[in-house]
Amino acid sequence: MAVPETMRAVRITRHGGPEVLEAAEVSVPAPRAGEVLVRVGAVALNNTDLWTREGAYGRPGAPKTLSGWRGPIDFPRIQGADVAGRVAAVGAGVAESLAGRRVVVDPAIYDGDGPDANPVGLMGSERDGGYAEYVTAPVERVHDMTGSPLADDQLAALPTAYGTALGMIARGRLREGETALVSGASGGVGLALVQIARARGARVVAVSSGVKIGAVHDAGAHAVVDRARDVAEQVRAAAPDGIDVALDVVAGELVGEGLPLLREGGRWVVAGALGGYDLRFDVRRLYLHNAQVIGSAMHTPTHFGLLMDLARRGAVRPVIAGTFPLERAADAQQELARRGHVGKIVLRP
Ligand SMILES: NC(=O)c1ccc[n+]([C@@H]2O[C@H](COP(=O)([O-])OP(=O)(O)OC[C@H]3O[C@@H](n4cnc5c(N)ncnc54)[C@H](OP(=O)(O)O)[C@@H]3O)[C@@H](O)[C@H]2O)c1
Repeated sequence: MAVPETMRAVRITRHGGPEVLEAAEVSVPAPRAGEVLVRVGAVALNNTDLWTREGAYGRPGAPKTLSGWRGPIDFPRIQGADVAGRVAAVGAGVAESLAGRRVVVDPAIYDGDGPDANPVGLMGSERDGGYAEYVTAPVERVHDMTGSPLADDQLAALPTAYGTALGMIARGRLREGETALVSGASGGVGLALVQIARARGARVVAVSSGVKIGAVHDAGAHAVVDRARDVAEQVRAAAPDGIDVALDVVAGELVGEGLPLLREGGRWVVAGALGGYDLRFDVRRLYLHNAQVIGSAMHTPTHFGLLMDLARRGAVRPVIAGTFPLERAADAQQELARRGHVGKIVLRP
């Protein structure tokens, strides 16, 4: 595969609104030792693209400070965590046989080499991502998907949304026969949670809104409650015996309202704060019932390996809400921010 010297990319040079996304002709990165160069077939958007662009993560002790999720962003930065494509070139020490293979990139940068390492960085945030024609990645983060029945758009929809969902379900120790509550259920992570929790044999009560409720049912939820009405009352009616595990990407008022709905020894797993990060809850509802609140950031290498096995077998079916050409990255991010979509929004360089 002949690799050109320059490529089209969309990058940010500061925090701000969609206007800070700028199209640029930049050098194609050269894969270093132990890395591969991937020609991007599709790159999926995530809420983190919006928060990283805006600098919405705050810092410890300074919640309003503009920041990426792990601290300052090293601008200019090409965004995009979720890449599917083909290996175009390999760096020193990497098998030539990988060239031409169809791959998915694990976007996590881990704090160690072990199977349970923690993600402490992300492609598109702490290193350049896939809003571009080419991206480099360490070879151990590249998973061969040549035999998968999924299209590039679907493969690109997997890493962050499904990886995060698998991480939440594992950390919340959701078991067959248990009842799971899923918030933000029409979104990328939410739909993945509904599908995977259902496939694990859980009873799934989802929280969604408006016209998206039908699609959340179709994804496998047993009951869907409308967040425009009294959520606690509806959840109590849908799950009279209580919730074993809450899989929550919304937080805000939902945590205070929802903790009393947990069964004895219940787990409340939180991985997002779309509804607000400054929480109030009655701590008695926690300790009197041996309940746990568990924070969950992305996935481990083990979770990601499991996800790739599912994808090779076509055992996950991500829903694609819409596709945009790379040049329309700002429009795509605005579409994501409007939250009218169900599933994943994808850019095709
Ligand atoms: N911890 C991690 O590793 C990790 C990884 C990925 C994402 N996240 C976080 O998880 C969250 C979801 O990400 P995503 O990519 O799935 O986003 P998404 O595709 O935009 O979906 C979010 C969904 O949440 C619901 N929602 C939006 N605003 C809400 C509000 N104010 N109150 C209640 N519900 C609201 C909407 O669904 P309904 O209208 O159907 O309710 C929306 O479709 C984000 O906060 C993101 O930063 C965390």
